[in-house]
Amino acid sequence: MSDTPSVFAVPLKGIPETAVIQAGMPVYTAQQREEKIARIRRLLQKENAVLIAHYYTQETLQRIAEETGGFVSDSLEMARFGSRHNATTLIVAGVRFMGETAKILSPEKRVLMPTLQATCSLDLGCPAKEFSEFCDLHPEHEVVVYANTSAEVKARADWVVTSSIAVKVIAHLMDQDKKIIWAPDRHLGRYIEKVTGADMISWQGSCVVHEEFKARALGDLIAQYPEAAILVHPESPEAVIEAADVVGSTTALIKAARELPHSTFIVATDNRIFYKMKKAAPDKIFIEAPTAGEGATCKSCAHCPWMAMNGLHNLEAVLESGQNEIFVDEEVRKKAHRSTRRMLDFIAH
Ligand code: 13P
Ligand code: SF4
Repeated sequence: MSDTPSVFAVPLKGIPETAVIQAGMPVYTAQQREEKIARIRRLLQKENAVLIAHYYTQETLQRIAEETGGFVSDSLEMARFGSRHNATTLIVAGVRFMGETAKILSPEKRVLMPTLQATCSLDLGCPAKEFSEFCDLHPEHEVVVYANTSAEVKARADWVVTSSIAVKVIAHLMDQDKKIIWAPDRHLGRYIEKVTGADMISWQGSCVVHEEFKARALGDLIAQYPEAAILVHPESPEAVIEAADVVGSTTALIKAARELPHSTFIVATDNRIFYKMKKAAPDKIFIEAPTAGEGATCKSCAHCPWMAMNGLHNLEAVLESGQNEIFVDEEVRKKAHRSTRRMLDFIAH
């Protein structure tokens, strides 16, 4: 990590309490659920809409997306699917930056989200104005930002990357002897540095969910299940990543669960990913990596508080009302499109 002192960490505001959000979620009988799902299916058709969900959303939403011709994936593939699909409305179940990325790539489409309150601690911790000032201090640096950022931060960047492509893009820039600013996830930044040998100026953001995974408790769990493979998302702390057999994006971790010969896996990422992991490898056993607390003392419980805000009730409501539309200022969008498109073109070649 560079010694340059211009490293920013912005205090986070507005992190919702997981327990409060989940307590506020409506509870349905099996029949009410089925009625809601049937109604959502009809509304998707009527509105010429397609549902695109992240792996961290609740199982029911993932199932609806799968069963209605929509898509469940990581942040990169969600964006690509939306831009290629011929629906006129994209319903993005995830967090705000995912809806914005869809709009950046598909300005002609209406992009709706079940809730506009679902954000991300990485996005919150990297405000555009402060980030732009930070970049101005290093004008000779190439600016590479993670997709978990606002449209304005993407607009300030030269490149947008997701966890599935970050290492390759940084290695490519190093081949060109570029100096690099990385933002906002410090753990992913550190991981990229270790893999590529890059020395980047890094913003010091973090994910409130992955930050909670604890290396010592993970070590105890590994001692209990010595035969298990350890799957880790690179937003996790360095010591947790060091214990991993596979480090990768959500899609890469599901692929590893399917392809590795192991019958047991310890998984350090949001636990809603288990729905797809179990589908990919039905006979295997998946164990949550330990977080900082348990029950009432647990801050994230391996589930993103913002992803948890997506439910059947607000999915139905948004399809009915057309509210919660994502708008991105056109000047910002054009700039953010350039840096995001660059990633997609890089993957294509
Ligand atoms: P992926 O791009 O790997 O799906 O990650 C998105 C995310 O928010 C992880 O916390
Ligand atoms: Fe952001 Fe972390 Fe939630 Fe992913 S899991 S959306 S990085 S807060």
